[in-house]
Amino acid sequence: MTTMFETVRKSALEDSKPMRVVVDGEDVLLAKVADEIFAVSDICTHSEVSLSEGDIEGCAIECWLHGSSFDLRTGKPSGPPATSPLKTFAIKLEEDQSDPMIFVSLSESARS
Ligand code: FES
Repeated sequence: MTTMFETVRKSALEDSKPMRVVVDGEDVLLAKVADEIFAVSDICTHSEVSLSEGDIEGCAIECWLHGSSFDLRTGKPSGPPATSPLKTFAIKLEEDQSDPMIFVSLSESARS
């Protein structure tokens, strides 16, 4: 069975503003874009800086250090210097709540 970890309520996320949360010791970036929630690794695959200090453009997070952008849906970088994708994580929203809690699975990819 997949373990889902509680993070923050949906209202804590501002549109297109990344938020870093620590989920069971893992740095995770949460983002809300057009009312859709995404969870990806917060650590850039190029040089291990925190991506939540960067900006969201469309549905991608841009690394503030060298400028690679990562698609929040797939984790894939749009171009160098980063070449490896970010981990993506499945999320689940608490049911029947006007301001649902966001749960994240570290073992399940958002793409599965
Ligand atoms: S550290 Fe992120 S692109 Fe270089």
